[in-house]
Amino acid sequence: MKELNNPFLTIGYQSPDYFCDRNAESKQIIQNLQGGNNVTLISPRRLGKSALIKHVFYQMKQHDPSVFCFYMDIYPTKNLEQFVQLFAKEVLGKLESEGEKVLKKALTIFQSLRPVISIDPYSGSPEFSLSVESSMAQQSLESILDYLESSGKRCYVAIDEFQQILSYDDKNTEAFLRSKVQFLQNVCFIFAGSEQHLMSEMFMSPERPFYRSTSTVEIHEIDKEVYGQFANRFFLAKDRTLTREAFDYLYDQVDGQTWFVQKLLSLLYFSDDKLIDKACVNRIVDLALQEQDSSFKYLCHHLSQNQVSLLHAIAMEGRVYQPYGKDFIRKYRLSTPSSLKATLKTLVEQQLVYSCLDNSFIVYDRFFHMWLRRM
Ligand SMILES: Nc1ncnc2c1ncn2[C@@H]1O[C@H](COP(=O)(O)OP(=O)(O)OP(=O)(O)O)[C@@H](O)[C@H]1O
Ligand SMILES: [Mg+2]
Repeated sequence: MKELNNPFLTIGYQSPDYFCDRNAESKQIIQNLQGGNNVTLISPRRLGKSALIKHVFYQMKQHDPSVFCFYMDIYPTKNLEQFVQLFAKEVLGKLESEGEKVLKKALTIFQSLRPVISIDPYSGSPEFSLSVESSMAQQSLESILDYLESSGKRCYVAIDEFQQILSYDDKNTEAFLRSKVQFLQNVCFIFAGSEQHLMSEMFMSPERPFYRSTSTVEIHEIDKEVYGQFANRFFLAKDRTLTREAFDYLYDQVDGQTWFVQKLLSLLYFSDDKLIDKACVNRIVDLALQEQDSSFKYLCHHLSQNQVSLLHAIAMEGRVYQPYGKDFIRKYRLSTPSSLKATLKTLVEQQLVYSCLDNSFIVYDRFFHMWLRRM
């Protein structure tokens, strides 16, 4: 395997060597896709959805190199035009080797998308973009799907942060997509999203277009023991030891949330310690919080006093089941239940507080949670 400077990735995906577990989830997704079912992938933020999609595509491609896998993260898109633009950019040019018919379709789509070549004012190099007229967006999307379908190849399309379509002005997008997706034979989709309430509603509520049209896969924290073994492998390769106790302690500090575990492991990996114990972990946690200190301060500076007080109170409790309860309000000298309700709603919308499925509330970012507790 190609050796990385940092085996604990905190961004993107490299290969199965640097990816821990998720065997059951991968298998479940692959079996569904190969069986022609679309998949919905849901989890809170930073647990590893996007990396899992790439891991699944990596394996599918290895198993059958003739399949095509397309991944797009639609978080930055604001409307269907931008969605189509991104989709076109991802797929166009990839399937043309599949024959003249497909090439013709590609050219037609390409012309309808009005390709624009401009010069980057900074680098001076030519830049290429596609633009979509809003009146043509639905039609262009149909042509792109037709282009994939008619290639005769198995195509897998992952649309990450799928709940973003709910913010588009055109409220018909959801129904339109569903109506097109259901007739495709050669194209299967993964719809992934981190806003669990929105995603669940979209796929599990009977009055919505996508109701029960997909198989749902939820991901949770990676098993502590399996994660510990994965981590220790990289330290052992450098004649270093990460004790079981130290790993468990690290994992518990961030409730096993993948990105935070990875971040702490990567900091440990770059430390000089040969024998890594709990004290080393504590030192690394301090370092991680120090790194974030100015951005957390900046964030608090831009929040209202009520918001900061509520965040602090939730962090101190760890998990709050009754945010409007008398005891909680008195203990942290918070405002009235009605104003607290509005404050909490805003914090949830801003993804600073996470509203768990068991109706409790936690500070979303594990480092912010720790930082607030030290405030
Ligand atoms: N199973 C895994 N083993 C090792 N590293 C992982 C694993 N899953 C995710 N990661 C790493 O953790 C980080 C966060 O994962 P990822 O971005 O996939 O999460 P996400 O759920 O898509 O987050 P978000 O909701 O914020 O988009 C990434 O850097 C990724 O490399
Ligand atoms: Mg993601």
